[in-house]
Amino acid sequence: WPVFSEDIDAILRLKRERNAVILAHNYQTPEIFHCVADIVGDSLALARKAMEVEADVIVLAGVHFMAETAKLLNPSKTVLIPDMGAGCSLADSITPEDIRLLRQRYPGVPVVTYVNTSAAVKAESDICCTSGNAKAVVESLGVPRVLMLPDEYLAQNIAAQTDVEIIAWKGHCEVHERFTPEDIREMRAAHPGVTVLAHPECPPEVVAESDFAGSTAAMSDYVGREKPARVVLVTECSMSDNVAVDHPDVEFIRPCNLCPHMKLITLGNIRAALEHNRHAVTIDPAIAARARLAVERMLAV
Ligand code: 13P
Ligand code: SF4
Repeated sequence: WPVFSEDIDAILRLKRERNAVILAHNYQTPEIFHCVADIVGDSLALARKAMEVEADVIVLAGVHFMAETAKLLNPSKTVLIPDMGAGCSLADSITPEDIRLLRQRYPGVPVVTYVNTSAAVKAESDICCTSGNAKAVVESLGVPRVLMLPDEYLAQNIAAQTDVEIIAWKGHCEVHERFTPEDIREMRAAHPGVTVLAHPECPPEVVAESDFAGSTAAMSDYVGREKPARVVLVTECSMSDNVAVDHPDVEFIRPCNLCPHMKLITLGNIRAALEHNRHAVTIDPAIAARARLAVERMLAV
């Protein structure tokens, strides 16, 4: 911790001077998550909380689509992302043109897009969803068939829970697609009695081998509620580090995959973001108006 203390002190001072708050995703490293963040959570919680921020500046410690969502929902604020390169393999897997072509192929079928997409893609959608509300969003539309884009595995995992027919795309999360059913079987053999919680971006065969699947917030809540003696969070590495701090009696088994995008955010570049007012997120107003509608429809579900 001493190696971080100079940056932490500077960030706490800069937050006061600039009237800034830091929103951090559950995959941020513990020194960010526990020492400088004001609001932490999954994508859905960060979107909801961004809307309520009254401070002048929001620093989004997460990936670019999260910063864009914050800007969409609270456009009068300065929204900074410490590294513009913090992308997402799902957001990169689909373009607005892809959606326009899908609408021609499936006329009249509503388009539900995961929040892990660019604002330009959201603007072509009817409604957004997150891993925390995807089933409710799909069922809220009252139709027999939806397009759910771009995460193929999330779409398949939700399809298994609903009667609504779901047409998927071929996008994958580069972190969660690497987990296999064999990984889960090996963990169970090596750690008898372990409770396995998986993110729904994992392949359906991995979810089938798990005890529970849910968003990062749902996994964290599960640990707090059920207090398993041993648990494995089949997701990004920092999740276990962050949740374990609050649950010293729970044994965390920690095979994990790193998200290279999330890990671009550091105390150093959060400090620089506040010092130099960089990198401000901007969205073309015409795109923002339509994208905002899709996110607001989701929040109303
Ligand atoms: P959550 O909405 O569950 O936090 O997931 C975001 C994400 O990027 C998972 O890979
Ligand atoms: Fe995107 Fe996967 Fe990283 Fe989440 S963990 S930001 S879905 S690449």
